[in-house]
Parts: sequence; structure tokens; C-alpha cells
Amino acid sequence: MSSSRRKSPEQLRSHRWYGAKDLRSFGHRSRTMQMGYTAADYGGKPVIAIINTWSDINPCHTHFKQRVEEVKRGIWQAGGFPIEMPAMTLSEPFQKPTTMLYRNLLAMEAEELLRSYPADGCVLMGGCDKTTPGLVMGALMMDLPTLFLPAGPMLRGDWNGTVLGSGSDTWKYWAELRAGTITEADWHGIESGIARSPGHCMTMGTASTMTSAVEVLGLSLPGSASIPAADSRHAQMASDTGRRIVEMVWDDLKPSDVLTAASFDNAVTVVLALSGSTNALVHLIAMARRAGVDLDLGRFDELARRTPVLANVRPAGKYLMEDFFYAGGLRALMRQLGDLLDTSQRTAAGITLEEAIASARVFNDDVIRSRDTALVACDSLAVLRGNLAPSGAVIKPSAADPSLLVHCGPAVVFENYADLAARIDLPDLEVSRDSVIVLKNAGPRGAPGMPEWGQLPIPKKLLEQGVRDMVRISDARMSGTSYGACVLHVAPESYVGGPLALVQDGDLIELDVPRRKLNLLVSDDVLAKRRAAWREPVAHFDRGFGWLYDRHVTQADQGCDFDFMERQTARSRPKDPQIY
Ligand code: FES
Repeated sequence: MSSSRRKSPEQLRSHRWYGAKDLRSFGHRSRTMQMGYTAADYGGKPVIAIINTWSDINPCHTHFKQRVEEVKRGIWQAGGFPIEMPAMTLSEPFQKPTTMLYRNLLAMEAEELLRSYPADGCVLMGGCDKTTPGLVMGALMMDLPTLFLPAGPMLRGDWNGTVLGSGSDTWKYWAELRAGTITEADWHGIESGIARSPGHCMTMGTASTMTSAVEVLGLSLPGSASIPAADSRHAQMASDTGRRIVEMVWDDLKPSDVLTAASFDNAVTVVLALSGSTNALVHLIAMARRAGVDLDLGRFDELARRTPVLANVRPAGKYLMEDFFYAGGLRALMRQLGDLLDTSQRTAAGITLEEAIASARVFNDDVIRSRDTALVACDSLAVLRGNLAPSGAVIKPSAADPSLLVHCGPAVVFENYADLAARIDLPDLEVSRDSVIVLKNAGPRGAPGMPEWGQLPIPKKLLEQGVRDMVRISDARMSGTSYGACVLHVAPESYVGGPLALVQDGDLIELDVPRRKLNLLVSDDVLAKRRAAWREPVAHFDRGFGWLYDRHVTQADQGCDFDFMERQTARSRPKDPQIY
């Protein structure tokens, strides 16, 4: 046990459940004994809640049944008492209409699990896209010692010797199938080989982006986010996590001791250097607001102007997360960033970021580039504004055809996703390669849940002409594994009457990424008339969680959190329950 211990057993939060001499604690002790434990197991020990998002319906977390045993082993070894607590999983491939609808529900569940049970600290087990921000957002509000255990990426996909990447190759080969350049048999071969091991998506999608961001923030063990799920070092990291969280409880090292404006700047910088998912904007803003740190879209744009892309990982680059790990992983990439990071920040490991990355090395300088050989010198992400997006919109220029970054073309408008699906491939659709495809009602309230529809499909007749990228605009998000000249997160969204709601077929839209502009070239008079005629759509929900979500979700530029959950008042800890 650490000699620097700051807490005594009597000061543990769980002491109020287990240590008091009263009738209620008799119940707690006797019911713990009912489960086969004795006082030697739990007496005077930190109780570690392991919030596990394992589920039969989440393919990215299949190994969590085994990993949780490894976390428990570490906790036992370090003198803690592990309690596994299942929490709702957010399974990206299966949950409809979108996992984003439920991120805040997971955050509420994680917070209330920690509040209502005798947890002294917690290990959060997540990785599949929204599980990471959901778990962290919840834990930040309780501010108990916290370690996030990332699921780790799956191994490279394989199809007859061709390396396949999650998401990216799905879109790519789906377009080829629609264009008639691959067969149905090819397509089925891709289907069986693209996801062939436990772990989350292995391109630089939302999962790897967010697990990396959480490591940079100092909430995971250094080096943990890059380890492939199937690698035995992932299991070793799990038991290390169990051992470390017990020490963190004794040392009372909490997220509020680690998270600062500078640590969020570091996380944003690394996300940019990874050419990470645009979803990170929404999640990091939500996490920062819960941590009491001001972070807005403007800061992402400022940092993007100076941050090079160093990770040569799909979809922006060539390799996959397995290659990134072998090349040195996230710690090596952070070393390459040098003075772009504030490495004086603390981490949950009890050391600074500088100490955490000191021994890191790059083993393949094509996968992890230096600042001199960067994949993209800067501006891998841009925040756009204009009369079409007064509160901002986002584009990932590094994933787009460069010829489209300054573009003006006529709108082809779809009122919602059903309209898009019904008409996009019609032979008589009036569209050319210069058109700007617009999708409305795909935002936080409109879809609902702001699904990853933002990589709008290219019309089939243009695909057959060889067109592979066009300017596309929506208030949706886009999978981090997607690519294209897609303007996303338009705020305010069309469903609440944002200017996107007023766009009509044939309107000229001007995109100018270098100048950060997105404008609808329609006169103010015409727009005023259209606004007067606009009517608020019928609400999606009249009861239940959807009703709560619809009334309280914030817009994309504010993180899509619930307005009643996001801010801590003066970083005060929510009150613990009374134990009667
Ligand atoms: Fe789980 Fe991509 S489906 S991370």
C-alpha cells in the first residue's frame, strides 16, 4: 500500500455503508456475506465500482467479460474490493435510431450508479463510440477517483489478402458495388472479413479518437488507448488499471485534480494530430462543460490552424490502429508534437504527461510522422460560419477532395432521410457533380439523435460517371471512418428553424473553407418570407426518455448534453445520499 496514502479506511466513502455500528450497516455487511464474502474481503478496503458496458449485442466489447476479471484481479492484488456494475451498452452497429440519442442516458446511469452505491473509486469499461464520452461525462459529475479502461481496436480486416478498415472500406466497396465494379460474391467476402476480432473499429473513427482523447486528458493509464483488444498486453493493462485505481483512492486523486483548460487543449491537439473523428467536437465540448472548463468550436479551429496531422491512419491516411500501436502508439505521437502540448499536466497515473511519454519512441516513421514529414501541415479540421450556420458547422478538409474546398453550386434538397433514401438514386433527379446535396432534419432534435448520416450518398448516376466526392451539407454527424467534402453539425439545426430549414432546390450555396465561410446566396427579403412560412415540425415523442431528450438536448455547438446536466456549480460535488 502506498506510503503517500492520504486517506484512512475510516475516511473512505464506503465506510458509511460498511463501517458504521448501526442497523443499516449490519444489513450491508450481512448481505455482502450472503454473496460469499467475509470481512477479510471488504473490511476497510476501497470499494471499486467497475462500470462495464459489456453486452451480447455489442461486438466491440465481447472481450469485456474476460477483461473485467483481469481488472478485478488487479484490484484484489492492490487491496481493494471490486464490484462489477453492468451499465447500458451503446452498440454502434445495432442501436437505432442512433447511439447518440442515448449517450446522455448512459452518462446519467453512470453518475447515479456511483452516487447510490458504496463506490470509493471507479473503473469505466467502454470504447465503442458513445460509451466513452457517456461513461466519462457521468463519472465527472461524481468526481470520485476514476480510471477509464479503453476496449482497444480490433485487428486489421482482411479480404483475400486485401487489408480492410472499419467503416471506410464499407463505404468504399458499397459505392463500388453500386457502380458495378465489384460482385455480390466480393461483397460477401468483405462482409465476413472486415471485423474479425474483439475490439472497436480499427480506423481512426470515433472510438479510437475518443479513447485517445481520454488518455491525453489523463483519465486512462499512459499507453492504454492504442493496444489492440486481442493483444495480451491489453489484458495486462486491465490488471494494471485495477491495481492503480486502488492507489488513486488512497491518494484521493480525482478527475478534478487532472482536468484543466490546458488538458482539454492537449486532447483537442492530439485529436487533430490523429485527424480524428469530427464527433470529438461534440463529445469533448460536452465533457469540458461538465468539468467546468470552457471549450468551444472556436478553440478547435484555432488549434487546427497550428496542428499537423502526424498519424498516417485511415480514413485520412494509409494504415490502421494495429499498425499505429506497433509504430509506437499514442505516447510516441505525443512526443512528436513537442511544444504543441502542455506536458506539465497531471495524469491519473500519478505522473505528468511529460513523464508518461518520456520513454516513448517511434518505430515506423511512415505511420507516425514527424512535424517535418506531417501528412497534413495544418487545418485538418475547420469550423465554418455564415448565414447558413450562424452557430457554426464543421468540415474535415483532410478527408475531402481538395478541389471542392472552395465551391459554389446549386442545392439539391432533401427534407429528411426518408426523402433522401427514396429519391437519391432516381434517374431523373436533377443533379450534377457541381450540385450541393443538402439534408435537413438530421440534427440533435430533428432526426432525432443527430445520427451519422452526414456522409450523404453520391447519386447513383453520378457514381457511374466516376464521381466519388461532392459538397454535401447537413445538421447530422458523420462517422469518423467516413470521408468526403461533407459539411456537418450545422447549427442551429433545421428542425428548430435554423437557416438550413429555409434552403430550397436551386439556391446557390457558397463553401469557402480557407475563409471558413458557409453562405446561402439568397437575399434577406426572400429568406424572411420563407421564415414567415416555416412551421415547427410535429414533435417525435410524447412520453418517456425521448420526450425528456427532446426538451433538454442542446445544439451541436454546445455538445448535445442535457441543459440540466451539463454544468457543475463552482465544481461542487453533487450531494451523496443519506444512508438510513
Ligand atoms: Fe463499435 Fe465502431 S462499431 S466502435
